[in-house]
Amino acid sequence: MKKQSISFLLALFLFTVCMPQLTGQTAEPTLKDAYRNYFPIGVAVNPFDLRDPLATLIKQQFNAITPANALKMGPVHPEENRYNWGPADQIVDFAVANGMKIHGHVLCWHSQAPAWIFTNEKGDTVSKEVLLARLKKHIFDVVGRYKGRIAAWDVVNEAIADEPNQFYRNNTWYRICGKDYIAKAFEYAHEADPNAILFYNDYNTEYPQKRDKVYRLLKELIDAGVPVNAVGLQGHWSIYEPSEKNLRDALDKYSSLKIGIMITELDVSVYPPEPEPRAIKPNETLAFTPELEKKQAEQYKMFFKVFREYKNVITGVTFWGATDGQSWLNNFPVRGRTNYPLLFDREMKPKQEAYKAVVDF
Ligand code: GLA
Repeated sequence: MKKQSISFLLALFLFTVCMPQLTGQTAEPTLKDAYRNYFPIGVAVNPFDLRDPLATLIKQQFNAITPANALKMGPVHPEENRYNWGPADQIVDFAVANGMKIHGHVLCWHSQAPAWIFTNEKGDTVSKEVLLARLKKHIFDVVGRYKGRIAAWDVVNEAIADEPNQFYRNNTWYRICGKDYIAKAFEYAHEADPNAILFYNDYNTEYPQKRDKVYRLLKELIDAGVPVNAVGLQGHWSIYEPSEKNLRDALDKYSSLKIGIMITELDVSVYPPEPEPRAIKPNETLAFTPELEKKQAEQYKMFFKVFREYKNVITGVTFWGATDGQSWLNNFPVRGRTNYPLLFDREMKPKQEAYKAVVDF
């Protein structure tokens, strides 16, 4: 064999053997390829995630994007007459350039809302009329800017109370407007972009008590003709919950409303859910033992098996971050406690067990 051919074969060998390791890829299919015939697989990002090597991983594995913070009211609209479009534009441009769907998050939420929206120049609380007018302007400006590029929006986030004897969350929106702010937000969003899919989004939506309240809210809105088209189940879950039964019951119940369902913020914590029962001391950091890895893989396997069965109602599954190192759960509910909730580890490598459990079926 000629010398050139030998060097060519050697180069080819090195490329095939070493490249997958360098890019963190395995012989497994990517997430978006494995779910091509089911639903888009998304990831929540901040602008600093869109640099290599993470950007490459995101492009390889995901076909949908949610801006994690950039479109929240506080970050995007810090003062009444000033918008901070830069971070959201960067994410939207990245998604469009790479042919990814964009899920807008979030138009009305009690958290990460700017203080100015609730108060006047004197610092007094504004009236319901003023607050709704400000909400309308905010929604028109934000939805209007990305019309045609952002096809779906979380319109209202977490408006239902966790307390068993309370229905609506007692937040500033509610204290000023009563429940009307919820329907109004959907009406404004629909007016701003009649083609957008409009979501109500919340957590713990699989626990029967909260599930039934979220269901009731959606049913009342739909019966009143409010343009809500879909429900977002955040999916901040753990290796302990929800059970398969609770997950299926929730999917059955929401789909009886004939609306879309998306898993909007998936992660699978290795710690027991808050509050009790607690098998672990609050500030104890766990190592990612083979036993935990196996438990997490089993849980991911169960979730995705159920998602696939419900592919006719599930419009997407989005992870809240790509790698364990980026996850908010390293700081919540205990600051600095290491967690391992996603499918890619801190070196951006797919997790042997959990990743396989999701893509091999
Ligand atoms: C909620 C919000 C998200 C995000 C997560 C935690 O679920 O909807 O925007 O803030 O909490 O990061």
